[in-house]
Amino acid sequence: MSAGEEAKRLGISRRAFLRGASVAAGAAVIGAGCADMGLKSSASVIVPERVRVAVPGLPSAFEGYRVGFYTDIHLGIWVPDEWVVSGLDMLRAHSPDLLVLGGDYVLCNDNPLWPMLGWVRNPTYAGLDAEDAAPQLFAGAAKILSSYVPPDGIVAVVGNHERWNDLGLFSEAFRRYPAIRVLLNEQVVIRRGEHSIAVFGSDDFLTGLPQLPSPLEHDRQARLVVSHNPDYVSAILARGVPFALALCGHTHGGQVCLPGVSEVAAPVNDKRFVAGMAEVGGSLVYTSRGLGVVGIPFRVNCPPEITIFELVAA
Ligand SMILES: [Fe+2]
Repeated sequence: MSAGEEAKRLGISRRAFLRGASVAAGAAVIGAGCADMGLKSSASVIVPERVRVAVPGLPSAFEGYRVGFYTDIHLGIWVPDEWVVSGLDMLRAHSPDLLVLGGDYVLCNDNPLWPMLGWVRNPTYAGLDAEDAAPQLFAGAAKILSSYVPPDGIVAVVGNHERWNDLGLFSEAFRRYPAIRVLLNEQVVIRRGEHSIAVFGSDDFLTGLPQLPSPLEHDRQARLVVSHNPDYVSAILARGVPFALALCGHTHGGQVCLPGVSEVAAPVNDKRFVAGMAEVGGSLVYTSRGLGVVGIPFRVNCPPEITIFELVAA
């Protein structure tokens, strides 16, 4: 069964509502309960989260606008190409208008212990040191992620792993595909006739220099913010810059979610942003669990996800 057919088979199983936003989250997990992404299992555990977002001032032409969000894929020895393709197929099944990529596209493991322990799902990159693996991984990620282009294209931000491995290699690989627009402290405006919404993409908080163009502070346009690391969203909120929804990754939702552990271990200062939706002062912040893994090659009680946002007028 293809991942697309599989995605069709997966239905919405839970709903949650937030003040100012209606959130419909679809979740279905194939396989046994809590231990996700076993060493031999595949992307069959990816959960499609469907989130309805009420946007104040949303232009009528954007009612029902769909944004697909894919982050932290971490292509490498632990995440094979097929998983990334499967997640993309699931996103495609929901027909987004725009695809947003949230950073951390690769994971370079040059630790010889992993092949010795048999912890390799993607032998293409096994045994390569980071210097040799990075160009191949960035090229592979860009090729897969550009293979599906929604009507309004693809925007992408960078994560910490892009600079840790080589931002130049990342840029070279991704700019080969014009359908992907990399946003480094830039905003794009998406138009429907006279109407428009804005999507601002920040540089990475941990490794880069995220900055807001100052006019944004006075611009009341319906806006999405994309920041790999939710900690930069905290800085935007502190400045009082208005936005409807921020899309973030980086935390992997904690990746290993044991009672009381993920909140402590997730690499984010504001623990409201470990995973899922939070509302702060009328703005919404959504942190995706992402697709991939780091540190250890599995997740616990924290399945990988793709996210589909549907915008509706508040
Ligand atoms: Fe990540």
